[in-house]
Amino acid sequence: MPYKIALYPGDGIGPEVVAEARKVLEAAGADCTFTLIEWNTTLYAKTGKCAPDDYLDQLKEFDAILLGALGNSANAPDHVAVQPLLGMRRGFDQYVNIRPAVLYEGVDCPLKNKKPFDIDMLVIRENTEGEYTPLGGRHYAGTPHEAAMQVNYFTRMGTERIIRYAFEAARKRTRKHLTSITKSNALIYSMVLWDDVMKDVAKDFPDVKWSSMLVDAAAMNFVRQPEIFDVVVCSNLFGDILTDLAAVIIGGMGFAASANINPAKNYPSMFEPIHGSAPDIAGKGIANPLAAIMSAAMMLEFLGDEKNAVRISQAVQSHLKESAVKTPDRGGSAQTSEVGDDIVARL
Ligand code: NAD
Ligand code: IPM
Ligand code: MN
Repeated sequence: MPYKIALYPGDGIGPEVVAEARKVLEAAGADCTFTLIEWNTTLYAKTGKCAPDDYLDQLKEFDAILLGALGNSANAPDHVAVQPLLGMRRGFDQYVNIRPAVLYEGVDCPLKNKKPFDIDMLVIRENTEGEYTPLGGRHYAGTPHEAAMQVNYFTRMGTERIIRYAFEAARKRTRKHLTSITKSNALIYSMVLWDDVMKDVAKDFPDVKWSSMLVDAAAMNFVRQPEIFDVVVCSNLFGDILTDLAAVIIGGMGFAASANINPAKNYPSMFEPIHGSAPDIAGKGIANPLAAIMSAAMMLEFLGDEKNAVRISQAVQSHLKESAVKTPDRGGSAQTSEVGDDIVARL
């Protein structure tokens, strides 16, 4: 049976990079059927909705979702535009957000004296609760007393399952090291709970070395000595911020892929580049499609087509190492589609 894929390009450069990811999946011969999902801020401009009310019901029929990016503040408020994305993560219990950051050969690193693979980390971001929990409210709107409250919601269950997943991931890697990112000096409830859970779960993984680092120091160390990180586990917001930083130290937003995983597989998982819709370059055909292509490879790996996942990943790595076809973010003048073509030729 072919994998049923929902192709959800979204806004801005989303459709431009998803088209290349699809092209690569097809060229690899991956056994997929694609259904185009045209929900975005253009739909909002027409109907007042970025997606139909039953979007989760429609999407749950698929094996996986390949997303581009959501958001175009010219058409819709950003917090409305990204709602289906956050809704999928929560509604499909995609509680693990996997965000690898590897410095590949042939890529210009903005940090001094870094060799290929000096940076090789796996950020495991909690994806369903924490700082992103939609609990809170606005009060006394439009008056001088106006107030807003956004609840930082951490459950033991939610914290434990992400930390356990990260330990399992660390156990499978050569270095077997896990860094837990916190801010428990200041966030005295949520992050102290996180630390307690970390210590409890660690007892089940005597073979994994682990340490704890405050998020401000972690941001500094991502730049100063990123090679110290192997697997990193963090809360929803910290993971969001740190993975843009991780993307830029491995060459830029155009490289960073991610997977939103429902480990129980009772709902589809979702795969997407970490970057957004990049309104500054949208429509020019110059976005780097590699993050979307690598996200498609992560999708195949999760679905069980290991062989094509590896083939695509190797084609991307040989492209990075050997090809002069580079989009402007890499200092070149190639079009998005030329990068896709180069990967296809290498498959
Ligand atoms: P962004 O990631 O879209 O862009 C940041 C910078 O990186 C821009 O200069 C952009 O040109 C560059 N960039 C991003 N992807 C690139 C690529 N593939 N190739 C070359 N350059 C690339 O972040 P932003 O500007 O903060 O957000 C723009 C919009 O995207 C907002 O509406 C935001 O809410 C949304 N957003 C969506 C997602 C998502 O759907 N997953 C993620 C992040 C931001
Ligand atoms: C990401 C994005 C999203 C997030 C936005 C669009 C809500 O920035 O996937 O990194 O913050 O999770
Ligand atoms: Mn982000």
